[in-house]
Amino acid sequence: MASFLLVTSSPRGLQSLSTRYARNIAESLQARSGGAIVERDLAAAPLPHITSAYIDGRIAQPEARTFEQIEAVDLAESLVQEVQSADVIVIGSGMINFGPPTQLKAWLDHITWPGVTFGYSAAGKPQGLLTGKKVYLVTAAGGVFSQGDWAASDFQTAYLRHLLGFIGLTDIEIVRVEGTVFGPEAAKAAIAATEAQVRAILEQAP
Ligand SMILES: Cc1cc2nc3c(=O)[nH]c(=O)nc-3n(C[C@H](O)[C@H](O)[C@H](O)COP(=O)(O)O)c2cc1C
Repeated sequence: MASFLLVTSSPRGLQSLSTRYARNIAESLQARSGGAIVERDLAAAPLPHITSAYIDGRIAQPEARTFEQIEAVDLAESLVQEVQSADVIVIGSGMINFGPPTQLKAWLDHITWPGVTFGYSAAGKPQGLLTGKKVYLVTAAGGVFSQGDWAASDFQTAYLRHLLGFIGLTDIEIVRVEGTVFGPEAAKAAIAATEAQVRAILEQAP
């Protein structure tokens, strides 16, 4: 039995394709394994941007923290615990201006924590500490970024893969929803391609 964490972040509500397929993957895997899904909907309940209370509070001794620092650090700790408790993390991210939504960036800024989710070896090599977890990452975009002229501008998938790997989440399967803005026929083909990826992932998953 696995524990699932479903993190969604699109500000497009019910129209969101990253939310639709991230939820689909989490619920399908959970139906199979019988574990529980913890949901973190970053659009419905946005996190604050990180503040000096968070940055200074993280390095202050717990007994020396101000009220604001305690509040900021407690929030980040609860977000980190959610990730630490999960065996499988499913993330939905819809491209906004070539990157992930700010809602998802705020979550990543809270959980990327020196000494807690990443550290450095004696030789100075970064070491992610959130190891042994499976990640399914659904990235949606209006354009096509998996290949072609715009591939070098895919700061969303490249950034997410890099940062998740940095904190130890290296076992990542990516599902792309892309090319949805070139008319109804192209959108239909794009959805069919995404659904084929989701089916393939679910067939391979334990
Ligand atoms: C404010 C805004 C900015 C967007 N920026 C881009 C972009 O830079 N490149 C792109 O290909 N699509 C862009 N799109 C299209 C979205 O990436 C696309 O609708 C995607 O499906 C959004 O993910 P979602 O369906 O999970 O909400 C943008 C959409 C919005 C609303």
